[in-house]
Amino acid sequence: MPVANAHEAEELHAGLLARHAWISPKFLYDALGSRLFEAICELPEYYPTRTEASIFEHHGAEIARAAGSDATLVDLGAGNCAKAASLFPLLQPAQYVAVDISAEFLCVALASLRQRFPDIAMEGLGMDFSTRFELPPLVRAERRLFFYPGSSIGNFTPDEAHGFLRRLRAQCGRDGGLLIGIDLAKDKAVLDAAYDDALGVTAAFDLNILRHVNELLDADFDIRQWRHHGFYNPELGRVEMHLEARSAQHVRWRGGERRFEAGEHIHTENSYKYQQADAIDLLERSGFEATHLWTDPQRWFAVIHAQAV
Ligand SMILES: C[S@@+](CC[C@H](N)C(=O)[O-])C[C@H]1O[C@@H](n2cnc3c(N)ncnc32)[C@H](O)[C@@H]1O
Repeated sequence: MPVANAHEAEELHAGLLARHAWISPKFLYDALGSRLFEAICELPEYYPTRTEASIFEHHGAEIARAAGSDATLVDLGAGNCAKAASLFPLLQPAQYVAVDISAEFLCVALASLRQRFPDIAMEGLGMDFSTRFELPPLVRAERRLFFYPGSSIGNFTPDEAHGFLRRLRAQCGRDGGLLIGIDLAKDKAVLDAAYDDALGVTAAFDLNILRHVNELLDADFDIRQWRHHGFYNPELGRVEMHLEARSAQHVRWRGGERRFEAGEHIHTENSYKYQQADAIDLLERSGFEATHLWTDPQRWFAVIHAQAV
């Protein structure tokens, strides 16, 4: 059973004891969480995956022209690697580097990808890129193209996103770039449904964070005593996911304990939605120049290629 390292334990402990308790969304992803996220991508309400895939399908040739071939393709939060794999025939990367905190799931995905694309050199890096980010020497230094799809950038606050993008910029030379998928602001009803689906798959995904924390910290969260909420907060321009205590309860974990009152929340994820201009501004303030932006007919999602400057 996986156990939290010292840094993870400290972060979890601080979040659980905060006045408004929180758990970082990176803990949503263990092997089961990654599988549940795959199921979310199949849901009719969860438009981001299929909308982004349709942009890749319609504009693939143009995307490949902008990004260029023979790149060192670094897939950030690669998950099942399906999005990058769909672009391999067009991008023809010299090396594919899949990075994900959910290392066990990544390993399985990469093993099958190696069989499908035996001519592409591949590396898997099971690591957390949210705090520090330094690629090891086995990653080619030439033509690094960071691939960051799925609007995962939205899990950071805009300030954190700026810091993260600057760290990416520091990891590539002038011949480097970024291919990023960003979810755009839209109708609240669409967003509410996308993060609180009828089948309850997103609820299971959110609740799984407690099961993961039980493993990591030897905690005793009773998962049945928590309820998922996912909703768009228009004032803050973000979707929020929370777990609400169904009853008053006492939770213990290695190194700490806390009483939660009925109705008290643990904040588990933010997913910021961007205006197109703000997304471009963020990239440009971070040392990149947006060269192309592709979107879908409803303008729900944007894929942007940005060159290091
Ligand atoms: C929303 S999913 C996106 C998966 C896939 N890229 C896609 O677009 O469908 C986020 C992915 O990032 C990974 N992830 C989340 N936080 C991470 C972190 N701090 N460091 C590394 N990987 C992380 C998760 O395990 C998950 O595979």
